[in-house]
Amino acid sequence: MQQERIIILDFGGQYKQLIARRVRECNVYCEIHPHTLKIEKIKEMNPMGIILTGGPASVYDGKSPTCSPELFELGIPVLGICYGSQLMAYRCGGQVKTAPVSEYGRTEVYIDEKSSLLLKDVECDRKASTVCWMSHTDYIAEIPEGFSVTAHTEHCPVAAMENSARRLYAVQFHPEVVHTQEGTKMLRNFVMDVCGCKGDWEMSSFAERTIEELRKKIGDRHVLLGLSGGVDSTVAAALLSRAIGSQLHCVFVDHGLMRKNEGDEVEAIFGPEGSFDLHFIRVNAQERFYRRLIGQTDPETKRKIIGEEFPRIFGTEAWKLKGKVRYLAQGTIYPDVVESGDGKTGDVIKSHHNVGGLPIELVRELGFDETPIEPLRMLFKDEVRRVGLELGIPRELVYRQPFPGPGLAVRIVGEITPYKVQIVQEADYIFREELHKAGADKGLGQYFAALSNMHSVGVMGDHRTYGLAVVLRAVITSDFMTAEAAEIPWNVLQTTMNRIINEVDGVNRVLYDITSKPPGTIELE
Ligand code: XMP
Repeated sequence: MQQERIIILDFGGQYKQLIARRVRECNVYCEIHPHTLKIEKIKEMNPMGIILTGGPASVYDGKSPTCSPELFELGIPVLGICYGSQLMAYRCGGQVKTAPVSEYGRTEVYIDEKSSLLLKDVECDRKASTVCWMSHTDYIAEIPEGFSVTAHTEHCPVAAMENSARRLYAVQFHPEVVHTQEGTKMLRNFVMDVCGCKGDWEMSSFAERTIEELRKKIGDRHVLLGLSGGVDSTVAAALLSRAIGSQLHCVFVDHGLMRKNEGDEVEAIFGPEGSFDLHFIRVNAQERFYRRLIGQTDPETKRKIIGEEFPRIFGTEAWKLKGKVRYLAQGTIYPDVVESGDGKTGDVIKSHHNVGGLPIELVRELGFDETPIEPLRMLFKDEVRRVGLELGIPRELVYRQPFPGPGLAVRIVGEITPYKVQIVQEADYIFREELHKAGADKGLGQYFAALSNMHSVGVMGDHRTYGLAVVLRAVITSDFMTAEAAEIPWNVLQTTMNRIINEVDGVNRVLYDITSKPPGTIELE
């Protein structure tokens, strides 16, 4: 049975991933494709519906992204959003003009046609309006024949239009953003009622189907995966292990810059004592990384050294499997694919330089397939997490906060030494434990202890001390691009401070960083 699928055609809209998120929240699978996707290909994919995104262009500009009028003749329901709505109007014979008044932000939209399937159950205030998010300079000045206006605003005569017989719908506003109060409902109406999706895309069926597909593709060949301990590669390993068992080889490079016990936790799950059938190779490369980091104080140099050392070590392990392994695998997820090339060229861009964590030249030399296996490439992060739970990965691991690739190297200001790594690991462990105990970790985007390179004078007992200062950091953020320092309860900070001073040698001062981003960054380096 073919899986229900919605296709999103991208016209350069900044919210395309949000549209996809909303559709998937209806348990309907969807994919984002460039607007150039051929009609033949669309027919082959046999989607239940098509959504046209917004975009910065103007339909009359000769160079603007467009679509074939045939798209609206396929008998497949189409929803045009913002630029997509104007394109639908234009391509179906209506008129688009520069709006006399551009609308940006929260706008009252008046519903004219309550019986519209798209606007079903949309709650309005007494004036029959609902708040929507607008961002447009052009507007539909004249609707195509056979269409009717279903909503308007003060300045925009066609805030929504439709031809229900042809199942063509258009909205000038953005239903996908949270500021459009009833937007999620409208998208759900389109997906479920207009397109007739049942919404049976579940993570359990995803896991089952993917495992089947992996088995079919891989056959009796072997696969190599670099396991970082992060959520994505962990879930990819679990899926592959369920599919091909001991034909999977996972290399876990411990660079000695992970959080306390983290390396052992990964080993406990995937090692010989764990619950997954695979070959687990742990490379304890702490010494090697520490040696290369001696005397290095510049943050970017530290990052570069770690970035160089990783593929070297992974490459050495790969050489040992030459002749045995056919495929490399990696935990690429959907936002990586979309961001690196609109879902079309993303894989190509990456694989030219780097496949599964190895340089392409080495991949060729080793005789591995040049296309990596990426079982999670169509999933968003929260979906990856749900698959992880399905596969029996512990909740604490699946919901772990993000951790930077260079690890504690970006949380130790200045030179890295094993002594400092140990200090920061212990302090970080205490801080996380105290936050968790107090239930104060809920809603935090990232929280950790870092080590400044400040020494200061203190007094402990009757002795003068000259010790290091630990910096505690906890931020609230939705996208990690901006962040605010969290208000941690004072008693939690105090208990943490007491424990760090008493339990971690070499520290005589604990600071809480209240800097927001910008001007600060989340990490200290
Ligand atoms: P900043 O410190 O730039 O961090 O505000 C934003 C997010 O990115 C993570 N981060 C990194 N992740 N390699 C990574 O894989 C890095 O070099 C790196 N630096 C920062 C950081 O943990 C936060 O989530």
